[in-house]
Amino acid sequence: MIAFEGPTVPEPLIALARRARTVTVLSGAGMSAESGVPTFRDAQAGLWEEFDPMMLATPEAWRADPPFVWAWYAWRVALVRAVHPNAGHRALADWSSRLEVLIATQNVDDLHERAGSSQVHHLHGSIGAFRCGECGHPFIDPVTVPDEPVERLNPPACGRCFGLVRPGVVWFGESLPPDAWAAGVVACENADLVLVVGTSGMVYPAAGLPALAGSAGAFVAEINPLPTEISAMAHLCWRASAAAALPALLAAITAVE
Ligand code: OAD
Repeated sequence: MIAFEGPTVPEPLIALARRARTVTVLSGAGMSAESGVPTFRDAQAGLWEEFDPMMLATPEAWRADPPFVWAWYAWRVALVRAVHPNAGHRALADWSSRLEVLIATQNVDDLHERAGSSQVHHLHGSIGAFRCGECGHPFIDPVTVPDEPVERLNPPACGRCFGLVRPGVVWFGESLPPDAWAAGVVACENADLVLVVGTSGMVYPAAGLPALAGSAGAFVAEINPLPTEISAMAHLCWRASAAAALPALLAAITAVE
């Protein structure tokens, strides 16, 4: 592994990105951090500061206290609706007009899509896709969220079976959406270059995708201000933020062509 610090785009990465025919991006919470979405392992704010998101994002927490868990997700839905894609999301969308850029994200926000990326696979589901927690029927009515965070909020009821509606995210202990997972695996197996952006690499199976890509022959580059569980297996680590690094990389590729 070779590590680079600071704003200068690493030369080996420019060379590889210029040669690549297929690029896969594995993104995590750090991708959206500069849009204002807190990462999972950041300290929580306000009402939930004493709660670990890992304890709230479980089927057990939901069964024990649906209004409490729904209120937390309602706050996250409101937050995601209020923010905008950052320069990193936009750079990936711009890049995809030049070559195939597939994105497999652990993020449940839609900032990649709002920036203009069309090939996005949500490994941990989507916060804006609601479904019945009992019968699984999609819930397509508009979901209103309070302007201010509240501690408890009753989830809507399913129009078909009157079960409680839940967010369409993957909770700890649940399986990943099979289609998104299969697409993420194929994207890693077929890529020349895999960029791992803003993930701590602590949650499996998503955290296993960089190693899978490496064994399939891809060059694996990490973009993250801090070392992670992925760093040791990555071929190159660039200690930089997503919103700074990705536009700089795209500009560097464009400049040399
Ligand atoms: P984490 O919160 O675990 O890690 C965020 C990573 O982003 C860290 O490695 C930070 O150093 C990095 N980071 C912070 N700011 C950044 C920036 N501006 N640019 C680039 N990187 C930055 O988030 P994830 O790895 O995405 O799962 O978490 C994985 C999963 O654990 C989540 O999808 C969620 C969670 O619990 C479920 O809910 C199932």
